[in-house]
Amino acid sequence: MQNKFYVTTPIYYVNDQPHVGHAYTTVLADVLARYHRLLGVPTFFLTGSDEHGQKVAKAAAAAGLTPQEQADRTVVRFQQLWTKLGITHDDFIRTTEDRHKLVVQQILQDLFQRGEIYRAEYDGWYCVPCERFFTEKDLVEGACPDCHRPVDKIKEANYFFRMGKYQQWLLDYIQAHPKFIQPDFRRNETLGFLRQPLNDLCISRPKSRLAWGIELPFDADYVCYVWFDALVNYISAIGYRSDDAKFRQWWPCSAHLIGKDILTTHTVYWPTMLQAMGLPQPEMIFAHGWWLTSGSKMSKTAGNVVNPMEMAERYGVDAFRYFLIAEMVMGQDASFTEESFVRRFNADLANDLGNLLNRITNMVGRYFAGRLPAPAEDALAGAEEKTVWDTVQAAVTTLEQSVTGMRLHEGVGAAIIAVKAINRYLELKQPWSLAKQADKAPLATTLFTAAETLRVAAGLLFPVMPEKMAVVLRSLGLADTTPKLDELRAWGVLQPGTAVQDFGPLFPRVEKAEAKPETGSQKTEVRDQKSEVSQINPALPSAINHPPATISAPPPGVALLDYADFAKLDLRTAKIINAAKIEGADKLLKLDVFVGEERRQIVAGIALYYTPEQLIGKTVVIVANLKPAKIRGVESQGMLLAASKGEKLLLVTVDGELSSGARVK
Ligand code: MSP
Repeated sequence: MQNKFYVTTPIYYVNDQPHVGHAYTTVLADVLARYHRLLGVPTFFLTGSDEHGQKVAKAAAAAGLTPQEQADRTVVRFQQLWTKLGITHDDFIRTTEDRHKLVVQQILQDLFQRGEIYRAEYDGWYCVPCERFFTEKDLVEGACPDCHRPVDKIKEANYFFRMGKYQQWLLDYIQAHPKFIQPDFRRNETLGFLRQPLNDLCISRPKSRLAWGIELPFDADYVCYVWFDALVNYISAIGYRSDDAKFRQWWPCSAHLIGKDILTTHTVYWPTMLQAMGLPQPEMIFAHGWWLTSGSKMSKTAGNVVNPMEMAERYGVDAFRYFLIAEMVMGQDASFTEESFVRRFNADLANDLGNLLNRITNMVGRYFAGRLPAPAEDALAGAEEKTVWDTVQAAVTTLEQSVTGMRLHEGVGAAIIAVKAINRYLELKQPWSLAKQADKAPLATTLFTAAETLRVAAGLLFPVMPEKMAVVLRSLGLADTTPKLDELRAWGVLQPGTAVQDFGPLFPRVEKAEAKPETGSQKTEVRDQKSEVSQINPALPSAINHPPATISAPPPGVALLDYADFAKLDLRTAKIINAAKIEGADKLLKLDVFVGEERRQIVAGIALYYTPEQLIGKTVVIVANLKPAKIRGVESQGMLLAASKGEKLLLVTVDGELSSGARVK
């Protein structure tokens, strides 16, 4: 077992109000922290706010405030949100606090004295929104390589950190520590970045251009570059240069959680800074994906930002936390729609979890006057009892592994599978029929087993939904609702004879108008019009051009298939994570998809019907066992399915949320 767990979120800019992206990282860190506490691992969880730099200065100017006033007002919105969302951070650091500023200045002074920071005349390009310098060759078509906005030509004296000299060391370090940057494809991204020569990092801004920052201790005309300042929060908050014992207790950090857009700063700037300071590296930097709406990143300009406070108000804090963790495959992008939220809420929480508790409390109320009955001594010798207990125990193992393996969505999925298994157990045992027998022992064993297994499932879900799971555990008669690992592994923690209480519906179903199902006549119409389902691989003819009008009489030229032939097709759901045009081929797009864990590249002839932006985030259906083919020199490892008729072409998708890699049959 680990001897400690120190987890961090990025510190958030206080230029605007928090959105779902901020809420996700913070809830993720909170859930990880809570699981570690449950596992008995001493835990420290840090979050905070990034208050210097151009973004905050600009927002302040626009609001007619000083930057400090802007920070003071906005930081409260983050702090209030974390309280609302039940976040259990141990510290909240603000970069305008003295405890942080002093440490940054000490580090700067030390690096300057040791020649790790030097002064030089700078001649190059500057991107104002990104606050980054670029050389001529970094630019993409004359614009910022990151945000693609225009850059300004700049010539001024500045201070530089000798980042470049650590390039080879960093490459070696990353290669020798495979867990350092996670997921693996992000490690490859950083390694790719490091194939270019690594420049020194400009760490100063002349006050004449930007005064809002930490003053350089060796030159009062300059302030520190906001990223150099911000990254230091991870050590200033835990006592670097101020409280040695505390610092030694928590550093190195176990996991820096970040979004994929701040990979370079965390996996290149930060490790080289630490190396220059002579400090050990964090154990892991984990980059998660983005929450998308309609296939694109949420942004204020696009007007598609999900407000976490509103979601928590509308559907409850725990349901919101659950959705964030269950829906996003850790590391990949996910889409946030209210429809998918409601669907998951009703399926997992209202139907599976809420109903199960309701059934148990009702039946214990009705058949045993509200007191938990005692099971048979050898209850687990019963085949069904053993099966359901084993399923729940398997979920404990999966969850434990998912926490260390950064695959929380899988652990939470296993807990919901366990809840479904308990519901199935009740359907199998039919306690309502057992109640009619004179011998009440089988009924008592059934209801106790259901309650005891639900106790474990609720314990597993506790770090994700602390309030609601405490209600479940209290309903089952537990006074101390804080779950502990050894109790999750033990049979017989609930005490027969204790009062089981009904506190009302746990997750009342959310009623939302669903899209109307097709009527029979509409179906006929579609069939009569002979719409086409085609496999969109331009290299090959479509295999299914004319579906039969009736099963017994296929149109001429279309053979009836034996099921065995159909079964040879491996159709799978695939999630599109990237899409790009192929140069010189108007109709083709190159797609990167995930099929379960596996990443593939598919060339599809759909560029006339879909833009790359519309595709990212979509779950489509592919033929997964097609021999790879080269199309215009680009390898295609599968084929998309789409329906087309006349001018129209639409991709085949699944009717609801389903993770990628699912078999379509
Ligand atoms: N202040 C810096 C971080 C400094 S850490 C030493 C910063 N702040 S931020 O407020 O702009 O962003 C914070 C985090 O929110 C980033 O990890 C970013 O990836 C994440 N998100 C912003 N939009 C997001 C989504 N739509 N989805 C998921 N996370 C996203 O960067």
